[in-house]
Amino acid sequence: MSEIGFRPLTPIIGAEVAGVDLAVDLRPATVACLREGLLRHKVLVFRDQPMDDARQVALTDAFGGATAAHPVTNGLPDAPAVLRTVLSEDRPGLAASEAGPGFPLGATAPRRIRTEWHVDSTFVANPNAITILRGVEIPPAGGDTLFADLEALYSGLSSSLRGYLDTLQAIHSRHDPSPSPRFDGKPAGPFVALHPLVRVHPETGVRSLLVSTMFLQAIRGLNSRESTALLDFLLDELAGRDEIHARVRWEQDTLVMWDNRAVAHAGPVDGLMFKEERIVHRTTVVGDLPCGPNGFVSKALKGGLFEALAMAERIA
Ligand SMILES: [Fe+2]
Repeated sequence: MSEIGFRPLTPIIGAEVAGVDLAVDLRPATVACLREGLLRHKVLVFRDQPMDDARQVALTDAFGGATAAHPVTNGLPDAPAVLRTVLSEDRPGLAASEAGPGFPLGATAPRRIRTEWHVDSTFVANPNAITILRGVEIPPAGGDTLFADLEALYSGLSSSLRGYLDTLQAIHSRHDPSPSPRFDGKPAGPFVALHPLVRVHPETGVRSLLVSTMFLQAIRGLNSRESTALLDFLLDELAGRDEIHARVRWEQDTLVMWDNRAVAHAGPVDGLMFKEERIVHRTTVVGDLPCGPNGFVSKALKGGLFEALAMAERIA
């Protein structure tokens, strides 16, 4: 086997991987080496990895079992584990979420700054463990994905604050008013999950802050002003601490794999600043229930789990 190399993107997060062709080599020794690299670097970037959807699903299975494409949104009709994201279809929504010409007097939904930072699918009790994203159509510039190290975010806080955060839980939710029926017949929401605010990584034992601007609604047990103030502080730290970030520039056939239990991500943050198309295909590895330092285990308050896709559900 050729030597697999990891070239770090920053001292703490991300690495470019060399010496592996994922289209032909998913041997257990290769997967074990990549898993070790993923746990160490949290974000792995593979260049020049042409493959089809079936191969991406096989790669996802090799890391622990592919889920359906998304708890709410259907995957491709012939590949139910693959979520296809087409930027030209999302741009109207992106434009609507920006302040319009009537701002600040017109009706504009209040939003936290940098709302793109998130952890995937935290509205379910068992968010996916790993996310795999493949560049299918990539613009010459723009559409980069940003990553933030949630372990470094946690360890950078004072021990007094960490000790308090260790005891807390947060409510994450998502409610789509009229979602399309799911291929597998499961309900597409509403979802509400209660997670520890600090999670202990199930493989490494390292603590991280489970914070996200998208689905995290409130801290349990605090009044609304306390909850908002604490979340605003933590999310400002997440978005504002440049030394915990990495930025990945896409190319055709770039594949990025990240540990959704240890990083947050944002992107594309500049989707309205370029005209070309951007298409990516996403798959996700099934995750377990997050556990806090005090033993608190995540609970579904509404909606089901985000489970691995059964073989029977893979046939269109
Ligand atoms: Fe995401």
